[in-house]
Amino acid sequence: MKTIVYFYSLSGHCEKLSGKIAAEMHCEAERIVEKKRRLSKGFLRFLNGRSALQRKSAAIEAVRNEPVLFDRIVIVTPIWAASPTPAVRGFLEKYYQDLKGKKLGLVVTNLGSDPAEAFSKYQEIFPEPFIKLSFTKAKDEWKNLKEDEIIKQFVLGINQ
Ligand SMILES: Cc1cc2nc3c(=O)[nH]c(=O)nc-3n(C[C@H](O)[C@H](O)[C@H](O)COP(=O)(O)O)c2cc1C
Repeated sequence: MKTIVYFYSLSGHCEKLSGKIAAEMHCEAERIVEKKRRLSKGFLRFLNGRSALQRKSAAIEAVRNEPVLFDRIVIVTPIWAASPTPAVRGFLEKYYQDLKGKKLGLVVTNLGSDPAEAFSKYQEIFPEPFIKLSFTKAKDEWKNLKEDEIIKQFVLGINQ
C-alpha cells in the first residue's frame, strides 16, 4: 500500500512529529507550503488564529508527491483556534478529488483545548472519514516516550 505523510507546521512541532510517523510507516513526509509567508515567531504568531476561525483557506504550492498516486494518506497539522489551519484547508480544496476513496488519517497537535471540536470541523471538509489522532501538550502527550508509544498504536490501527 503506497503511503505518504503531508504536514503543515508553523513552528516546527508537526514537522518533527511527521518525521517520526513517516519513519514508523516507512514512507516520505512532505511539507504543505503556503504561497504567502506567515508570522511565525513570538506571540504575534497567534494572530494567525483569526484566519482559521474565519474558515479562510490559504493558497498552497503544488506538492511534489501527487496524492492521487497514494492509497493511504496521513495529514499532520496544528490546531488553530480550535479549527483547521488555512494551509490544510487549502490542501484539501486543491486535492479533494484525489483524496476520494483513499484511506485517510488526520493527526493534530495542540496545547490544551479539546481536539474534538477541531476534528468535527475537519470532517466537514474531508472527502472521507479519517482515522484520528491528537497530541495535546496539557495531557503530556508531547513527551518523547509517550509520543512514540501513541504513534506506534496509531500505525498499528491504520495498518488494519
Ligand atoms: C495561531 C495559533 C492558534 C492556536 N490555537 C490553539 C488552540 O485553539 N488550541 C490549542 O490547544 N492550541 C492552539 N495553538 C497551539 C498549537 O496548536 C501547537 O503549539 C502546535 O503544536 C504547533 O504546531 P507547529 O509547531 O507544527 O506549528 C495555536 C497556535 C497558533 C500559532
